[in-house]
Amino acid sequence: MTTTIEVGMLGLGTVGSGVVERLARSAAKIEQTQGIRLHLAAVAVNHLNAHRTVQLPIGTRLTDSLTNVVCDRKIQLVIEVMGTVATAKKAIVAALNQGKAVVTANKDLIATAGPELAALAKKRGCDLFYEASVAGGIPILRTLTDSYVTDNVQSISGIINGTANYILSAMAAGQSYEQALTTAQAAGYAEADPTNDVAGIDAAYKLMILSRFAFGQELSLSQIAPVGITHLSASICQSAMENGWRVKLLAQIQQHGPGLYCRVAPVAVPVDQPLSQINGVQNAVAVQSEAIGTSLYTGPGAGSTATANSVLNDVLVAAKHLISGCQTIHNQKDAGTLAVTRFDQLTQTYLGFGKVAPQVLKRHADEADFSVKMITNNCYQITNLSATQREKLSAALPLTLVPIAGTADWTQVAENPMATTVNVAI
Ligand SMILES: NC(=O)c1ccc[n+]([C@@H]2O[C@H](COP(=O)([O-])OP(=O)(O)OC[C@H]3O[C@@H](n4cnc5c(N)ncnc54)[C@H](OP(=O)(O)O)[C@@H]3O)[C@@H](O)[C@H]2O)c1
Repeated sequence: MTTTIEVGMLGLGTVGSGVVERLARSAAKIEQTQGIRLHLAAVAVNHLNAHRTVQLPIGTRLTDSLTNVVCDRKIQLVIEVMGTVATAKKAIVAALNQGKAVVTANKDLIATAGPELAALAKKRGCDLFYEASVAGGIPILRTLTDSYVTDNVQSISGIINGTANYILSAMAAGQSYEQALTTAQAAGYAEADPTNDVAGIDAAYKLMILSRFAFGQELSLSQIAPVGITHLSASICQSAMENGWRVKLLAQIQQHGPGLYCRVAPVAVPVDQPLSQINGVQNAVAVQSEAIGTSLYTGPGAGSTATANSVLNDVLVAAKHLISGCQTIHNQKDAGTLAVTRFDQLTQTYLGFGKVAPQVLKRHADEADFSVKMITNNCYQITNLSATQREKLSAALPLTLVPIAGTADWTQVAENPMATTVNVAI
């Protein structure tokens, strides 16, 4: 028996067009294997007369009124793929308040208003899914939800911004930052205003979402204080590469005792680590956990088809819940109580790039507790550099400091887990 679910969609751009296309391609398979027919009843756009790359199914209403979709009584499930924060939030709140399931790809909104929207969804007994908001085509949120139930995630390291990774890969191949950005924009990998991508804000938003799923811990943008890639040069990326590292914009989160350590910043990844081999717009998320050890999830972090696939997988889960009447178990762990610290507060090893006389660096090292090894005439490996010493060194010398992955000194960090309250159902 086939059950029809009435779907409304907000947005018909890159992702929305992909959803229409994937839906047309997979409709028969979905019906055969899931017994579900997804009927796209209405789509809202901003410009009714704009040229579209896809044809809507016969009978699908195109409108420029969001209300026409979210308040349509027949529509049971709303897909939000228009972006924006305030407008999208208002539309999603309206949809949830009317008992509709919602699927969104909107990381900006979910990072900043996720808990509030999740609470509303729970109150209304609705699904709110957003797999596509992190790493586009990689099913990382559902994997964290479903496959780590009995496990304990210890750390996550991800390359989760394709634009920044594309630019860094091009810089390692010799292009200047400006050239790499222009190429990325021409190829459609960077937006006209790339600020969120190159300043690390987009990666930080995604890390905020990953933190919720992996550790049940809310993070704020100010706690992460992302560092972007705009201060890097081709010579830094190339020099690192020639000496055994790849500079990557890493989004990292790691639990240690009662603390949660986070970072979004350019990091020198040793060339023998798999993350160093993720190039161009590819994304990858490395998860370290108690039971599985390290597992790496890699794939396209954006793009019409891959992102639409994630959206449609969410749609199908929500559709099944609508049919069965079973409510989602809102199983994100309760708001965590871990103390949040940035990685840059830990003593660690850095690569220092700049034209600094070796004797000047040595004098600084002699006064403090770190050691310096000259790698080339403008690249140093600076070991055991504390946060305070790093700040002093940066202020005193024209050095760009890039932390080396995996060198944080945990010996100074408290190990003892805080007492946790466990609720046992008897
Ligand atoms: N692109 C990706 O690969 C990707 C990957 C992961 C997540 N995402 C997320 O997915 C969402 C959509 O991204 P996108 O790249 O598809 O964006 P996009 O190409 O710019 O498309 C946005 C669509 O939303 C419509 N729209 C915008 N404001 C609207 C409003 N007030 N009322 C009605 N329609 C409105 C636009 O209408 P018009 O066409 O008429 O202008 C357009 O069709 C964003 O949240 C983005 O962060 C995108």
